[in-house]
Amino acid sequence: MEALLFLGFVAIISVEAAVGKYAGDKVLRLRPENEQHLQFIRHVSHSAEVDFWQPHSVELVTTNRSVDFRIGAGWASEVQAGLNKIGLKYDILIENVQNLMEKQFDRNKTDSTGYDYEKYHRWDEIESWIAKITIENPKLVSRFKIGHSYERRSIYLLRVGKRTGFMKPAIFLDCGIHAREWISPAFCQWFVKEAVRNYGSDPAMTTLLNKLDFLVVPVINVDGYVYSWARDRFWRKTRSRNPGSRCVGTDPNRNFDAKWCSIGASRDPCDDIYCGSHAESEKEVKAVAGFIRQYCCIKAYLTIHSYSQMCLFPYSYTYSLTPNYKELNTMASDAVKALSSLHGTQYEYGPAAIIIYPSAGGSDDWAYDLGIKYSFTFELRDTGTYGFLLPESQIRPTCEETMLAINYIATYVLNHPY
Ligand code: ARG
Ligand code: ZN
Repeated sequence: MEALLFLGFVAIISVEAAVGKYAGDKVLRLRPENEQHLQFIRHVSHSAEVDFWQPHSVELVTTNRSVDFRIGAGWASEVQAGLNKIGLKYDILIENVQNLMEKQFDRNKTDSTGYDYEKYHRWDEIESWIAKITIENPKLVSRFKIGHSYERRSIYLLRVGKRTGFMKPAIFLDCGIHAREWISPAFCQWFVKEAVRNYGSDPAMTTLLNKLDFLVVPVINVDGYVYSWARDRFWRKTRSRNPGSRCVGTDPNRNFDAKWCSIGASRDPCDDIYCGSHAESEKEVKAVAGFIRQYCCIKAYLTIHSYSQMCLFPYSYTYSLTPNYKELNTMASDAVKALSSLHGTQYEYGPAAIIIYPSAGGSDDWAYDLGIKYSFTFELRDTGTYGFLLPESQIRPTCEETMLAINYIATYVLNHPY
């Protein structure tokens, strides 16, 4: 094995120098069926260069659920041979990650006037957009700084709704908890754009904005987002330093104070699902949780992730169902039905512990336990063809269909006051 390790290392260096960081990397989808298969995956995760895409850590791998991971160019053939040898079935989702990285930007800018919502934007562009949309829509949009990231970038919240002079029931919507899920911030921007565009012309949106406020955080994990543009496209966590470890960052969606780090999270700072040194250790998490705690009247909590096309609700930290399980299940089912009516995109839905895997410290469970009984996590497109590298040409259809689900939930919340 040592000789193989060495060979793999040499191969990575030479390929990287030639054509880019992810040249020759593959994404495989494995279907482990028995303990031997699981052991092989664990072994590979410790010896080779692998990055778990779905689920997000080797700890969460089980039989009867598929596993997507990216594997370094220098390891792929050796690992594939191993898979064949033990009869672990797999598909190659992505042949060459580097090629798809370039295809993500598959849309030529057609409209040079104004902001292009069908492109992925760097943080500095999003930050300017936040300022501009606020200034241009003084009656509908106000901007708040709710805190700073570890690297001292501002975390913004846009309150979107008709100004009335009194507090209205609110729906919290956040994006960009995880850095590499670029479609998520694109959706929050789309949502705000559609709200201001349709106010006064579309009766449904007008009613929502007259009676509710949307509290939109376009990017929570700003440092991670910047890093995913600058250094590592597949970065997930924050960028905070971990004393005593070379590894950087905490998983913000394991860092909320909801049965923190009790299950489906890691105490190892090198893991992608590291829960942090304590609940709310991350400044980004503290900013969001602090805002939600002190705000009067949040009636729904919605958080946007990718990928896998799912509408999830609590609990994640236990297999137990919430007291309002039936209602949440019906809402999710109807939201997903609305979503699929546009392009036929199929979503799964249900309690996250059951549908994906149990995990503690998530924002959805935390908001639910705070008393926000309508709490949903959306995992947007796709189901693995592009994964995190969803092409820009899919921003519009993805956002359009997701709007239907979000508007459905908002209307439901408006009609079911509590
Ligand atoms: N993919 C998300 C994550 O692992 C799923 C979020 C579902 N909710 C949860 N609390 N785990 O963070
Ligand atoms: Zn995520």
